[in-house]
Amino acid sequence: MISKFYQKSRQERINLLTERGFVTAEAGKLFIENPLLSETIADNMIENQISQFPLPLGVALNFLVDGKDVVVPMVVEEPSVIAASSNGAKLARPLGGFKTEIKERCMIGQLIFKDLVDVEEAKRVVQEKEAEIIEIANLAYPSIVKRGGGVQRVETRVIENETGEAEFLTIHLIIDVQEAMGANMINTILEATASSIKEWIHGEILMQILSNYGDASLVTAMCEVDPKQLTTADYDGQWIAERIVEATRYAHLDPYRAATHNKGIMNGIDSVVLASGNDFRAIEAGAHAYASRNGRYEAMSYWCINEAGNLAGELTLPMPVGIVGGAISVLPLAKVNQQLMQIQYATELASIIVSVGLAQNFSALKALVSEGIQKGHMSLQIKSLAIHAGAKESEIDEVVAKLKQEKTQNLATAQQILDKIRN
Ligand code: MEV
Repeated sequence: MISKFYQKSRQERINLLTERGFVTAEAGKLFIENPLLSETIADNMIENQISQFPLPLGVALNFLVDGKDVVVPMVVEEPSVIAASSNGAKLARPLGGFKTEIKERCMIGQLIFKDLVDVEEAKRVVQEKEAEIIEIANLAYPSIVKRGGGVQRVETRVIENETGEAEFLTIHLIIDVQEAMGANMINTILEATASSIKEWIHGEILMQILSNYGDASLVTAMCEVDPKQLTTADYDGQWIAERIVEATRYAHLDPYRAATHNKGIMNGIDSVVLASGNDFRAIEAGAHAYASRNGRYEAMSYWCINEAGNLAGELTLPMPVGIVGGAISVLPLAKVNQQLMQIQYATELASIIVSVGLAQNFSALKALVSEGIQKGHMSLQIKSLAIHAGAKESEIDEVVAKLKQEKTQNLATAQQILDKIRN
């Protein structure tokens, strides 16, 4: 456990992470001296580059994931997200922190065929030729097979059109991309396989592309909290635990609430995905698609009171993140952040990310069903208000202290306080 981290200066925080062996001194220096991308990297990553757009990088503490202490890097613009994650993780620690399960870590590539004479017959042909398809696909990317990956299996889906007729045949290649995100690899494999299949089934290829509905990369994170731990001066812990269960049940019933409930989960998830250099749009798309798998958009998490009387949470999401390749290999801080998390495998990163999502959800619900989020939110927002009002480094603490005593804590009040201090 690392305590009072927030009270330390930035340099002291980095020193502490270095001393505890989470990052090397060299990597620690990068946080301070070189947080921006070099011009060459920035200019080559995207088109028409004109500048950089920094966001704060912070760390969530107290995470115990599969028995390992983890310092979690998060890139986020919203105050209170990191504090909420750390708080949720702290409450989950006494009963073992977060435990995760990953049955499989594969990506899905789609080959979509149209204009087929007989869709069912085409499906049968593809099923019959599964071994051949796998061989052709793997020949297109031998290096991934050498590293222990490659196409694992072929699945077929007949897609009906608006009038209920079988129209398209969609072939899924389920690909083990090892430690990579694998987008380019998948697309290369798909293109190499499409022409042979086309000849066998006499259809037109509409397109070939990976699917971001990554349900071959599902990760489950679970945690338990003793309701007694939730008791505060104002609230009974059992009451809070029961209301968290009820709030989650409600979020499964109402898509309007589900969207907000899930947004809280994605607050945590996107922040770590960004810090890891992965594609957060891909993760968002997959998560929301998975939340709609029962035909209606639902809450992503489940909370119940288990047989032991503890509040038990569970979150399952597609988490097809990588630790090599693409932007991850180019962004210097993405590598340092991997070091911070002390991960060696993409599956470890995925487990941490889903655990953060669950911690975030827990903290949000705990606040929402009791005192509301505004109290915690505002105390963190006050510093932003002071900065927004124009307070210099040397003035921030005084503006914050005075603003805390005001009834109305907004930008105008912050500006008035600053004017008074200066005059
Ligand atoms: C705010 O960014 C996230 C919450 O709205 C999540 C939720 O309502 O569960 C607090």
